[in-house]
Amino acid sequence: MRVLIIGNGGREHALAWKIASSESVQHVFVAPGNAGTASENKVQNLPIAAMDIDALINAATEQQVDLTIVGPEGPLVAGIVDRFNEAGLACFGPGQGAAQLEGSKSFTKAFLDRHNIPTARWKAFTESEPARDYVRSHALPMVLKADGLAAGKGVVIANTHEVALDTVEEILVRQRFGEAGKALVIEEFLDGEEVSFICIASGTQVVPLATSQDHKARFAADQGPNTGGMGAYSPAPRVDAQLHDRIMEEVIRPTLQGLAEEGMPYLGFLYAGLMIDREGNPRVLEYNCRFGDPETQPILMRLRSDLLRLCQAAIDQTLDAENVAWDSRVALGVVMVAEGYPDDYRKGDEISGLGTITANHVKVFHAGTRLDRGRVLTDGGRVLCVTALGDSVHSAQHNAYKALGHIAWPGADWRTDIGWRAIARDKSQ
Ligand code: AMP
Ligand code: GLY
Repeated sequence: MRVLIIGNGGREHALAWKIASSESVQHVFVAPGNAGTASENKVQNLPIAAMDIDALINAATEQQVDLTIVGPEGPLVAGIVDRFNEAGLACFGPGQGAAQLEGSKSFTKAFLDRHNIPTARWKAFTESEPARDYVRSHALPMVLKADGLAAGKGVVIANTHEVALDTVEEILVRQRFGEAGKALVIEEFLDGEEVSFICIASGTQVVPLATSQDHKARFAADQGPNTGGMGAYSPAPRVDAQLHDRIMEEVIRPTLQGLAEEGMPYLGFLYAGLMIDREGNPRVLEYNCRFGDPETQPILMRLRSDLLRLCQAAIDQTLDAENVAWDSRVALGVVMVAEGYPDDYRKGDEISGLGTITANHVKVFHAGTRLDRGRVLTDGGRVLCVTALGDSVHSAQHNAYKALGHIAWPGADWRTDIGWRAIARDKSQ
């Protein structure tokens, strides 16, 4: 088979690497890809942007692609799957209707309420005055969210009414996020431990993937601004068998059932961002209509089954018959970022040391990198995700940081504590 993967992040490098390892795959195209995807066996980059749907359809047709897998949310929310299907092309991902789960927070909150799926109490606003009144009359902290896609920057946790009022002003009056901020969701702050629960779904059939935990804050000890994710590991020990069952029964199944009833059956990776409170109750913080980044990297390092086969089974609606096998080891990925990330960051620095990493239990997934006459240059905020397997979180962490120590460029930075929650849990047991 010939497969096209859309996107250029660490998630897409991991998807391309895993899909290329399938015996039934002859060739993988990645549009636009990065220096990492360019260097994989059987994999070739195509210089087409992820949002250029017309050009992607042409390329998939010309290159006789059998299946396209969409990495990022942008093209999914823009309706790429419907467009590919209209052109007679198979495409793995939700259609535009179901992709609203990520594309509109107010859509999702109303959907969750309609189907009695646990989530924080909320209210949506398009006018600033009622939003200000609501802020003044509600307890702190509160969470304010631009309704649409805002590249991870549209969420503010306000600890004072002043910050909350400023955020109302920024989003609804100054329209900092443009169209994505036409509406504002204000919700109750949820305390607890965050976990990522990612599935492959096809209508009401579902295969849960291994659990994982991301590290959203920029700095160690979860300090600083939120980022796309500074590192992740799998499995997440917080999710024991009982919690896993509850998440499936109280969150995932009713979501898939509800979407199917409402005429938008889900196909693709479905990512529930959950807050688990002290009593172990799960609540939905957000839905993403795609695989997580960086969660994909450790999860796929543990996946023993053929990913292409799973995606194909989802499309063929035979997912319930699939068994998924996992490496019992822990995988942990540390994201290396460019100086300045998540604000303005440096680009174009040469990365050294990549060739020194040859161990089988380590994989360096590229994100913001590009090839320039044989050199690998930084080309984004999140640059690499150094991912390693180990017999415990501690050993996976050790292996990842040891490999990371061989890689360098001017201004390279990373969190030094990826995996801290799981390690603290190990120690306390
Ligand atoms: P979202 O894009 O909605 O997932 O929000 C981004 C991040 O903000 C989440 O991953 C959480 O860390 C945090 N967050 C969002 N909503 C809440 C909430 N209601 N309570 C606490 N933290 C939240
Ligand atoms: N790592 C969080 C996300 O992919 O949205």
